Amino acid sequence: MFLQAKRLERNGKKIIHLEIGEPDFLPSSRIKLALVRAFESGKVHYTEPSGIPILKKELAKKYRQFEAQVIITPGARFAVYSAIVSLVNPGEEIIIFEPAWPAYRQCAEFIGAKVKAIRTSLTNDWNPPMEQLEKFISDNTKMMVVNYPNNPTGKIIEENTFKKIVDLARKNNIIILSDEVYSEYSYKKVRSVLEYGYDKAILISSWSKSHAMTGFRIGYGISNKDIIGKMEKIQATAITSVAEPIQYAALCALKNKVTGNVNTIKRRMDIVRSRLDSMAVRYYRPDGGMYYFIQLDSDKIKTFSFIRELLEKGVCVAPGIGFGLNYEDFIRISVCQPVAALNKGLNIINSLIRKA
Ligand SMILES: Cc1ncc(COP(=O)(O)O)c(C=O)c1O
Repeated sequence: MFLQAKRLERNGKKIIHLEIGEPDFLPSSRIKLALVRAFESGKVHYTEPSGIPILKKELAKKYRQFEAQVIITPGARFAVYSAIVSLVNPGEEIIIFEPAWPAYRQCAEFIGAKVKAIRTSLTNDWNPPMEQLEKFISDNTKMMVVNYPNNPTGKIIEENTFKKIVDLARKNNIIILSDEVYSEYSYKKVRSVLEYGYDKAILISSWSKSHAMTGFRIGYGISNKDIIGKMEKIQATAITSVAEPIQYAALCALKNKVTGNVNTIKRRMDIVRSRLDSMAVRYYRPDGGMYYFIQLDSDKIKTFSFIRELLEKGVCVAPGIGFGLNYEDFIRISVCQPVAALNKGLNIINSLIRKA
C-alpha cells in the first residue's frame, strides 16, 4: 500500500498516510543535542556487540535486572530476528497470536520454523482462547510471541491471562518473546513479561515509537544471560554493534519523559474514536498503541476494492489481511498524522462507507 501511495505521490497526487506506523513528530531536541555531543566527543566507534555498558546498566536498573541480561539492538525488529535465529531451529514451532505484526511470521519462516497461529477475534475482544493455546502446544513448540499493547488491535490482555500464558510456557519449557514496543502508549495498566519472573522470557522494546526514533534504529532485548549471549553472537556476526553515537542518543532518551508524545497520541486516539463511533464500522476500543483495527461490513464492502478506491481518493490505510489471513474485512488506521489530516481522512473513509 505504502509503495502504491508513493507512486501516486510521484505523479503529483496528495495522499493522507493513515497506514504508517511511526510517529510524525520529531525526537526531542535534547536527543539531538546528545547525538551532536557524542559526535563532538569522539564517540563514533565500534562498541561492545551487546551495547555500551552505561546504556545497558540504565536499562537493567529500569527493569530491575542485571547488566549482563541486556542487549542493545538496531531496533526491536532486529531483537526479534536475533532471538528467533539464535533460539529456534528449523522445523521447530513458534506460536503467534493473530492479528500480529507480520515480522514474527516472516522471521520464523525465514529460518524454516513452523508457525502456528492462534486466531483471536473482535467478537471475543481479541482475548486469546486459552483452551486452544493448550492444545496448540506440542513437544516441538519452542517459542511463543506475544505483543501487548498489540499492533494492530490496541488490546492489552488482563494480567491473569498473561500469567496463564507464562505459566503454560513455564510448564512446557517454552521461551516467551514479549514485544513491548508500545508499552509507553498504554491507556490501562500494563505489566512487562519480566514481572512474571520466568527466566525464559525475553522482553523486547525500543525507542522507535515512544521517542519517535524509528530512523535511529535502536532497541533492546532483556532476558537471562544465556539467551542474551546467544543473541549477542548473532549481533557480533551480523553488525558488530549498534552505532555508538546512536547509543548515546538512546541513553539521553531513556532519561527523557515521553508524556508529551503520549498525550499527543492519546488525544488523537480520542478524536478518532469519537469519529468512528458515528460510522458504520466495528472496532475494539484500544487499551494502548497508536492504531484502530476496524471491521467493515463485508456484506456491503469488498475490502480490497474499498482500499483501492480510498487510495484513489487520497487516503492510504493498511489492509487487515497483512496481519493474518482471517482479517480480510479489516483495515488498520494509525493516528500518526496531525488532527486535520486524520479528520480529512476519516471524512473520506466515511463517505465511501456510506456510498456502499
Ligand atoms: C509490534 C511492533 N514491534 C516492533 C516494531 C518495530 O520496532 P523497531 O522500529 O524498534 O524495529 C513495530 C513497528 O511497526 C511493531 O509494530
